[in-house]
Amino acid sequence: MGAMTVQVREFSVGQLAHRSGVAVSALHFYERQGLISSRRTAGNQRRYSRDVLRRVAFIRISQRVGIPLAMIKRALDELPAERTPTRRDWARLSKSWETDLTSRIEELTRLRDNLTDCIGCGCLSLSTCVLANPKDELGDHAAGPQRIFDPLVDESA
Ligand code: FES
Repeated sequence: MGAMTVQVREFSVGQLAHRSGVAVSALHFYERQGLISSRRTAGNQRRYSRDVLRRVAFIRISQRVGIPLAMIKRALDELPAERTPTRRDWARLSKSWETDLTSRIEELTRLRDNLTDCIGCGCLSLSTCVLANPKDELGDHAAGPQRIFDPLVDESA
């Protein structure tokens, strides 16, 4: 009869891995971290409800953007009654991820530009290299001893 069209309500971990393209080990890891959950069958096998697929997608996409798991978990924990992110939830969360991503891009762009200054320099000086001293922190301090360790000073002298 209509057996072919019956929708699977639950997945085993292998099926979830297959559907999501995420390795079983990663799914177990997510579960240990409290990002997804399952019920156990009488035979002690994990079963995941269908909406876990959406949660896994949310986790993967967020990770792709470079969001740390702890932050992803916090976002998921804020959803009422362990709800899987809806379209609206995702719209709101992805907006805040975007802000985060933009600031990381700016930071990386700054780093790249500074690294460009370093290429071919080789000074490796903690006081003058733009990467070692990005905000010119030493310059902000008053006169006097400014570093405990300075590789250019031979302390045994
Ligand atoms: S190594 Fe000289 S500026 Fe960075």
